[in-house]
Amino acid sequence: MNPNSPSFLTVLIFLLLCFQTSESQNFLRRGSSLSAEDNSGVLTSPDKTFSCGFYGLGGNAYLFSIWFTHSRDRTVVWTANRDRPVNGQGSRASLRRNGAMVLTDVDDTVIWMTNTTSTGADRAELLDTGNLVLKDRHGKILWQSFDYPTDTLLPNQVFRKSTKLISGVGNGTYASGYFSLYFDNDNVLRLIYDGPEISSVYWPDPDFDVFQNGRTKYNSSRIAVLDDFGSFSSSDELKFSAIDMGFGIKRRLTMDYDGNLRLYSLNKVTGSWMISWQALMQPGKVHGVCGKNGICVYTPEPKCSCPPGYEATEPGDWSKGCKPKFNRTCSSSLTEVKFVGVPNTDFYGFDLNYSQTVSKEACMKLCLDDCRCSGFSYRLTGQGLCFTKSVLFNGFKAPNFPGIIYLKLPVSVEASEPAILNGTNPVCRLSKSQIVIGSASMYDTTAKRVRWGYFYWFALAIGAIEVFVIASGWWLLFRRQDVPSSLEEGYQALSSQFRRFSYAELKKSTKSFKEELGRGGSGAVYKGVLADGRAVAVKRLGDLHQGEEVFWAEVSTIGKIYHMNLVRMWGFCSEGRHRLLIYEYVEKQSLDKHLFSSYFLGWKERFKVALGTAKGLAYLHHECLEWVIHCDVKPENILLDSEFEPKIADFGLAKLSQRGSNSSQFSQIRGTKGYMAPEWASNLPITAKVDVYSYGVVILEMVKGIRLSNWVVEDSEGQEAELKRFVREVKRKILFEEEAWIEEIVDPRLKGNFNTNQAATLIGIGISCVDEDRSKRPTMDSVVQSLLECETESEIHITDDH
Ligand SMILES: *[C@@H]1O[C@H](CO)[C@@H](O)[C@H](O)[C@H]1NC(C)=O
Ligand SMILES: *[C@@H]1O[C@H](CO)[C@@H](O)[C@H](O)[C@H]1NC(C)=O
Ligand SMILES: *[C@@H]1O[C@H](CO)[C@@H](O)[C@H](O)[C@H]1NC(C)=O
Ligand SMILES: *[C@@H]1O[C@H](CO)[C@@H](O)[C@H](O)[C@H]1NC(C)=O
Ligand SMILES: *[C@@H]1O[C@H](CO)[C@@H](O)[C@H](O)[C@H]1NC(C)=O
Ligand SMILES: *[C@@H]1O[C@H](CO)[C@@H](O)[C@H](O)[C@H]1NC(C)=O
Repeated sequence: MNPNSPSFLTVLIFLLLCFQTSESQNFLRRGSSLSAEDNSGVLTSPDKTFSCGFYGLGGNAYLFSIWFTHSRDRTVVWTANRDRPVNGQGSRASLRRNGAMVLTDVDDTVIWMTNTTSTGADRAELLDTGNLVLKDRHGKILWQSFDYPTDTLLPNQVFRKSTKLISGVGNGTYASGYFSLYFDNDNVLRLIYDGPEISSVYWPDPDFDVFQNGRTKYNSSRIAVLDDFGSFSSSDELKFSAIDMGFGIKRRLTMDYDGNLRLYSLNKVTGSWMISWQALMQPGKVHGVCGKNGICVYTPEPKCSCPPGYEATEPGDWSKGCKPKFNRTCSSSLTEVKFVGVPNTDFYGFDLNYSQTVSKEACMKLCLDDCRCSGFSYRLTGQGLCFTKSVLFNGFKAPNFPGIIYLKLPVSVEASEPAILNGTNPVCRLSKSQIVIGSASMYDTTAKRVRWGYFYWFALAIGAIEVFVIASGWWLLFRRQDVPSSLEEGYQALSSQFRRFSYAELKKSTKSFKEELGRGGSGAVYKGVLADGRAVAVKRLGDLHQGEEVFWAEVSTIGKIYHMNLVRMWGFCSEGRHRLLIYEYVEKQSLDKHLFSSYFLGWKERFKVALGTAKGLAYLHHECLEWVIHCDVKPENILLDSEFEPKIADFGLAKLSQRGSNSSQFSQIRGTKGYMAPEWASNLPITAKVDVYSYGVVILEMVKGIRLSNWVVEDSEGQEAELKRFVREVKRKILFEEEAWIEEIVDPRLKGNFNTNQAATLIGIGISCVDEDRSKRPTMDSVVQSLLECETESEIHITDDH
């Protein structure tokens, strides 16, 4: 046979593939074992995402683990006994005849085993989910690795009251560290630093109570799960989503060695991980990173350091913290003890006493007179705030922190301030408070890969190597066409724009909040110009009684909503009490100014605004990832750009201010009198139909050119809304088929320059939208449909009009 002939090649490839498939299996039979020595000792999940076997730590040390096959650094998601690596030679992971899966070291010591002895376990199998399961002959699962997570939770892996995610000790080091995620006794999911000497809960924000943090204590099921879509939900009402939420992306939720809990998404192309959510947005919020007495210094590279008078307990292991270089005395005489101040620094928690409006001297006296006091924190912001500390823990130094920590030291200790805080170890590194978002390429490849994968097999089966080549060509071609470049660019632009701003930055860009654009229920809006030249509208929110993470979660949801008829949110700021939202600046102010004051809006523009607003609302109600009810649709919230394209403002804020009260129920009436649907007054649940009602009022006002939402007093029937009277009048006119009724209704300022058909449609829609019975109101989707139909019609007949 000619070795160059296609059929020869085909056979060769086929044989190679057969060899490969027989090599990577996903199960282990009873009585067989895996070893580190030969490379065949790896189980691979059917879709090849996960591998299970001996994972080399370098040298001759191995762990029996499950890892992502295709991530660049083969990310480990589970380990049998993470604290005890085994020898590369002679170690085995076996499914013994008695049904137990056992890991043994070279000298046959049992390092780890499952409790499945004499249960009839027949095979160990690695599933596509990354779960290693032991099954009996009938396929019943007797044991699963999902019940024993280490530091990582995979999608569909249920997190329960008995489980914990425990961090590793360092980057790429798998032994158990001190940070964990767990369900606390009060049913709340928390992060804790649980070190050798001290433990300290640091998430959710300990400065707020459970409800302010958006959680609940009253569901004792203590269960949480991350789904395939990238949404995490827990029985304590913690809910968050990956910023790239959607199917087909590999994710993991990991308790990182630096104490932060992060959700990662795998970039299939590069094999690298991107952070798609994280529990703590600011460095310095994780506790215990530098141990007792240690300080995490951000200057700007975060490092561990010891305060004056202290030295590292064990250089190289910062979890042990710093120890005093002196013997503590209980003296309260300033001849024996002194206080050394370290600026911009604090130790969180462990307060002996907290007092307000005290002088520094009084605060010092409190610490001096208390034998347990090892220092005090003093802040001059507002009045003097004084915290006396029993234990120095969770120390951090950040350039913008407005307080000073004063350490109580014996007079004899030499401690000059500048000599200190020379960070020695970059262990307390936290990523900056940035959201890193995957590129668009993460979205497109999965499904297509699978389909074309079948195609390869088909091509091989019919034994035509040429087809193979053509198929590859096609694949490349199609793959390139799959993502329209504009979409990709759009996505990237979108992702790079949403970010966190600092208060100082906003203060500067708004010239200290000089130019006020408007003021609404949720706060005042100011004009600003960012450093990159973009004009923005900065909204200062009033008091929101909620923790930072809740705020961040809500805001990032709003930040992801993008539609041409919605005002784009570019970012937010959350610092101390300040909560601000940064929006694109829309040129031509709000619709009310154009309708009800000296400006004038022509018919074409009015129709455009009606249609665009409907599109924006339809998107909020039906299309965007998290459905949003606006709750305050009115001309003041419809902004016009230079082309008179409307953009709806303030969407999503209803939800923001609703938190703190119970879950998603609207307990508090929102909206503006005159535009509010009648069900706000009754006890009915609030649905998207409240927006449909408000929209109806707005379009009727646009047609009529006056405010119908005003309350008027009528002589005969007492108080009645202008709107009701108007609707009655129109219905009567239609009923009696009065001629030229439309002309009588439409804004006389238009002087007859309008499209009759469009006007009739708008009036019809408007009236059905403001129906008292909400089930008779149309949906925004159908409104858009009707308007689109008469929009095109108008283009044809436009010259017929008057
Ligand atoms: C193994 O342990 C788990 C949890 O400790 C328990 O739920 C399960 O019933 C045990 N299985 C057997 C066969 O003892
Ligand atoms: C861990 O170390 C690797 C290289 O050793 C580095 O690329 C990665 O950024 C580190 N991760 C963190 C969270 O520091
Ligand atoms: C408790 O949480 C679980 C899981 O989120 C949920 O299914 C259940 O309905 C909740 N129970 C109550 C009483 O809210
Ligand atoms: C602390 O006290 C111990 C004995 O109580 C003594 O040996 C040691 O030298 C003292 N250390 C200092 C720094 O004074
Ligand atoms: C805290 O300090 C105040 C004086 O500012 C004092 O009256 C109070 O007893 C102190 N409380 C404790 C627990 O030491
Ligand atoms: C602090 O570090 C700088 C350089 O990083 C070094 O020059 C200086 O001597 C160090 N100071 C102390 C007290 O170790």
